[in-house]
Amino acid sequence: MAVAVVGTQWGDEGKGKVTDFLSRQADCIVRYQGGTNAGHTIVVGREVYKFHTIPSGILYPGKTCVIGSGVVVDPKTLMVEIETLTQKGISLEGLKISDRAHVIMPYHRRLDELEEARRGQSPIGTTLKGIGPAYMDKVARQGIRVADLLDEDAFREKLSFALKEKNQLFGGVFGVEGFSLDEILAEFGEYASSLRPLVVDCSLYLDRALAQGKKILLEGAQGTMLDLDHGTYPYVTSSNPVAGGGSVGSGLGPGLITTVVGIAKAYTTRVGDGPFPTEIQGAPGDRIREVGREYGTTTGRPRRIGWLDTVVLNHARRVNNLKYLALTLLDVLTGLESLKICTSYECRGEEIRHIPAGLSQFQDCRPRYFETPGWREDLSRIEDFRDFPGEARRYVRLVEELTGLPVALVSVGPKRHQTKVLKQIF
Ligand code: IMP
Repeated sequence: MAVAVVGTQWGDEGKGKVTDFLSRQADCIVRYQGGTNAGHTIVVGREVYKFHTIPSGILYPGKTCVIGSGVVVDPKTLMVEIETLTQKGISLEGLKISDRAHVIMPYHRRLDELEEARRGQSPIGTTLKGIGPAYMDKVARQGIRVADLLDEDAFREKLSFALKEKNQLFGGVFGVEGFSLDEILAEFGEYASSLRPLVVDCSLYLDRALAQGKKILLEGAQGTMLDLDHGTYPYVTSSNPVAGGGSVGSGLGPGLITTVVGIAKAYTTRVGDGPFPTEIQGAPGDRIREVGREYGTTTGRPRRIGWLDTVVLNHARRVNNLKYLALTLLDVLTGLESLKICTSYECRGEEIRHIPAGLSQFQDCRPRYFETPGWREDLSRIEDFRDFPGEARRYVRLVEELTGLPVALVSVGPKRHQTKVLKQIF
């Protein structure tokens, strides 16, 4: 069977932690899209691990972790992650990488910076990791894939072709220096040698794993509202974090993903620009940011904070065909007198319960809230969900009622034992 874990909001919902938790029951963990724009933080005992490309499941011995075909791989960062994990004594024996994954080149990172600067007062707020430009080359059918990197002649040919255009762009449009073919060839030749033993045909590999009765966990990066097709375009990432992206980015046919779990923070955050109806200006937002340590894993930027938005969650339920929700960071809301949950929007004189496609229309949406009392007890120390204060359990029940989805997991802290299981997923 294959289970997919997807973000329901604007990323940073705690997918890494939930994936790590579910990885215990899985045999094979597959990251299916995005790149080094993602950042997962996992705490095991006293160790804090931060990943950008390697699937979170790598911390369990004996699991296979695949960087899927839909991912854009930055080999330089990947090598650093491999090195760091090796130094901490983590085995990387199970790490695989798809031969169809595209490679982020140094000129993609540079282009990301230059294009953001060109947007001036209206930036997207990208992570500057070269994600957009790498996917642009993929879609333009001039990307370089892992399979090309391993083939010296093909790599030279594709790189020469790419650099001709890119260097013209750097010099002619942006007025900056370009890149040297020989330098990239030398640097990437070394990456090719290191990565070669890890490379597999992802779809074929997973097909065999399923035939052997293995359990597969698909791990999405970012979230539904950052999805290229279903998010708040153009303030989105350049890939498909939704569950459909899990099929495309792994090579598992759609029907094979039997369960999709949506990860939702107990409130909402967003990094980068773009509309955010339930954003809180001022006091409770600042408190949530500090208590929840809401600063980007990848960029260190302070995250924008908002109340939980069930219009967003229902959008995510529909486009991902969610079966369960996992509610994370519930402990962060402790101590707030009253909590708000958005149930619909007031938009240009009309009440709506969907996300409008038009950006200016979405910007005009004012949230309508349901208010519920908060609690004072520290949830992070309570072992059993049944012993949570009534107000916290009511909050969870309200989320279930407003989304029509059962909450299968509730997480109240970064440690593994702080995830409460309400329903079995695997
Ligand atoms: P890009 O993915 O770097 O192109 O950035 C596009 C948008 O997605 C920006 O608003 C980023 O802040 C946001 N973004 C990308 N990756 C993540 C993530 O892992 N968590 C939260 N936001 C992200």
